[in-house]
Amino acid sequence: MTGRLAGKVAVVTGAGSRGEGIGNGKAAAVLFAREGASVLCADQVAARAAETVDMITAEGGTASVFECDVAHRDGCQQLAAAAVERYGRIDILQNNVGIPSNQGLEEITEEAWDQVMGVNVRSMVLAAQAVVPHMEKLGGGSIINISSIAGLRAYPARSTAYTTSKAAVIGLTMALAGQLGDRRIRVNAIAPGQVYTPLVAERLDDAGRQRRATSGLIKDEGSAWDIGWAAVYLASDEARWVNGHVLTVDAGITVTIPGNAYGAT
Ligand SMILES: NC(=O)c1ccc[n+]([C@@H]2O[C@H](COP(=O)([O-])OP(=O)(O)OC[C@H]3O[C@@H](n4cnc5c(N)ncnc54)[C@H](O)[C@@H]3O)[C@@H](O)[C@H]2O)c1
Repeated sequence: MTGRLAGKVAVVTGAGSRGEGIGNGKAAAVLFAREGASVLCADQVAARAAETVDMITAEGGTASVFECDVAHRDGCQQLAAAAVERYGRIDILQNNVGIPSNQGLEEITEEAWDQVMGVNVRSMVLAAQAVVPHMEKLGGGSIINISSIAGLRAYPARSTAYTTSKAAVIGLTMALAGQLGDRRIRVNAIAPGQVYTPLVAERLDDAGRQRRATSGLIKDEGSAWDIGWAAVYLASDEARWVNGHVLTVDAGITVTIPGNAYGAT
């Protein structure tokens, strides 16, 4: 531990993992705590957040569980109030919650569209609304929105609502950076590449995992820790002049030219 976030308080949404292993929210929460932050681990499944809290407290860090659905205003307001009540302040919000969706244009229903946009985008608006007044009191803060390279590039597979939601997260990041910069609240996004987490593990066979692992310019599998370290940087004062940025963490896959004349990427 180097104390890059010493004295800060972080709220991480979706801080549990949907399965065995380490998801992006869990990794960020653990790394924030290792760097000295007190972390409020929010999840709609309390037992998932409790696993993250157990990891943190076993290492001597400070964290607690808050059960809520961040797709709704009440949940977000209660979350921010709990962070202030337990830890006295809010410096960092990691908007991590996101659900997958594989429906193509012909299949997507109104209900599925609204659910994905509600969880993946509306939650980030509502959580930001809830924490900003507390950050303002401190004279600043850092909001980190988890997008995806799916918000920057088309997946040939069916993912109408997911891709749209992740592009919307980038639009939201710019909109909030524009509105909050003069209050010294920085708003940035991370666009993870094809990392191996419980979210994708449940849908991948060995061949699929291998294909994803070697899809970038660095032929090595990415993990939630790679995304978490990017979050630590954006949360820290080292990034005091970084605002409205989309940080891709993807082994370089989004700078490649598929089907080029010089061989495989
Ligand atoms: N794994 C990848 O390859 C990849 C790539 C790009 C982006 N992402 C993004 O990373 C983020 C998720 O990562 P993860 O690994 O932590 O996922 P995860 O599914 O393992 O964990 C997310 C947690 O969020 C919780 N959650 C879901 N909806 C909620 C709600 N409405 N309110 C409160 N909690 C809720 C779940 O219970 C779960 O514990 C998503 O935004 C996802 O789109 C992942």
